[in-house]
Amino acid sequence: MDKSLLCDGSAAVLSQPLEVDSAKTLYWKMLADPPSALIVQRARCFLGVQLARATCLPCDMPLEPARILPWMESRVRQTANAYAEYQAQRARGQPRRYFLCRAHALYFLRGVAPTKLVDGAWLYGLLAHWREHRFQGLVRTYLEELGEGVPEQNHVLIYRNLLARQGCDDIESLDDECYIQGTTQLALGYLARERLPEVIGYNLGYEQLPLHLLICARELAELGIDPHYFRLHVTIDNVSCGHAMQAVKALQENLPLADRRDEFLARVAGGYRLNDTGLGTLDVIERFDLEHELLCMLERKRLKAQNMHSDSSALQGCPLNLWLSTPGQMKRLLTALEQRGWIRRNEAPAARRFWQVVNGQSAAMFGVFSPYEKQLIHDWIAGRWLATPEAACRPWRRKRHRASPAFGGTDEFDRDERALKAQLDAIDPDGGMQRLISLMSPAYHYRPAGLLATRLFTAQTR
Ligand SMILES: [Fe+2]
Ligand SMILES: [Fe+2]
Repeated sequence: MDKSLLCDGSAAVLSQPLEVDSAKTLYWKMLADPPSALIVQRARCFLGVQLARATCLPCDMPLEPARILPWMESRVRQTANAYAEYQAQRARGQPRRYFLCRAHALYFLRGVAPTKLVDGAWLYGLLAHWREHRFQGLVRTYLEELGEGVPEQNHVLIYRNLLARQGCDDIESLDDECYIQGTTQLALGYLARERLPEVIGYNLGYEQLPLHLLICARELAELGIDPHYFRLHVTIDNVSCGHAMQAVKALQENLPLADRRDEFLARVAGGYRLNDTGLGTLDVIERFDLEHELLCMLERKRLKAQNMHSDSSALQGCPLNLWLSTPGQMKRLLTALEQRGWIRRNEAPAARRFWQVVNGQSAAMFGVFSPYEKQLIHDWIAGRWLATPEAACRPWRRKRHRASPAFGGTDEFDRDERALKAQLDAIDPDGGMQRLISLMSPAYHYRPAGLLATRLFTAQTR
């Protein structure tokens, strides 16, 4: 692909040659607050590449505006029917459709995290246009994604807390594909002025109720993982008055005059198709391979554990330090542990030495593995035992109740609040709104000052 074609128009802005960044690199750069002009330009190139890739994807969105609402309503009916069928299958004793085990579910939460942690970001650029009636529905949607500044209702904060509670918030090692959706959302958010039809189209696709949301919510709950984030979207994105309805209205209210309408709708469809780039929910779920994940995790740990064991620690006559000094030995190490009787697959992990060394406050390796990493070890050992009634009675880590998150009310929060109020008092109302909008960026809105800014902005624009 000729990248220069995708970056046309940029020459006047920046003279240096531009490369198309990896999604992951750009994602983190865009979450610097605020991203520099150079980074925004790189986001422009990235988005151009994604749109070009998306042109060959199928698009079921009707190109006649009058047909969009009936089409969305019929999709909701299809989803409801498919979910009823799923529920009936489960009632007949079918196993979970998505998650084989708890480690699988945590792998999913982690794999989609780069997308969920910028929830709503594609609408950020519309905040500056809050006075224009045609954008009010989308601005409202953005504010609701931010929980209108109420920490317990801020979608990004809800997901951050979920990851932290499950011990799978270390997303740095995820591969580039996991970042494509999140980076696309950020790029749309910062390029709304030039990509309005694509923003509207992306929003139309994202705010619909998919079957996987309903199934994930149910299966996460079954595994003792708080499904609040997923259940919340079942209700808030509804097509009668929720975000899906706002998405349809936004399209209708931004339609140009008849002679430009076809071109506009073609671009809306392009934005809609962006929803299918990168990895989606089902892709992440399908690519889970428990043993592969376990071995990759152990390989990462190996690098940090070298020469940390005593010389007397040996397995099959070989010092543990030597096992850990050589790459690619983790599968053989697990086999050696099995042969020694420290691990017995398809049985309760707690009955054997290895799990006792890994898990528990007084375990020799206490703190070495995160909860997610321990879940990988546990589920790999447990295997078929997980399907037994005994396993259902002995979950090693199930917290059904949401812990009270440490939201607000601290001195630091008060200090931010006081500083922001003092700033706002010192500038004119327009400057004040600009300041609030800058604090409501995807990088900042879930932090104390961002939450306060969102509450103030919501009160001003209601
Ligand atoms: Fe959301
Ligand atoms: Fe939404």
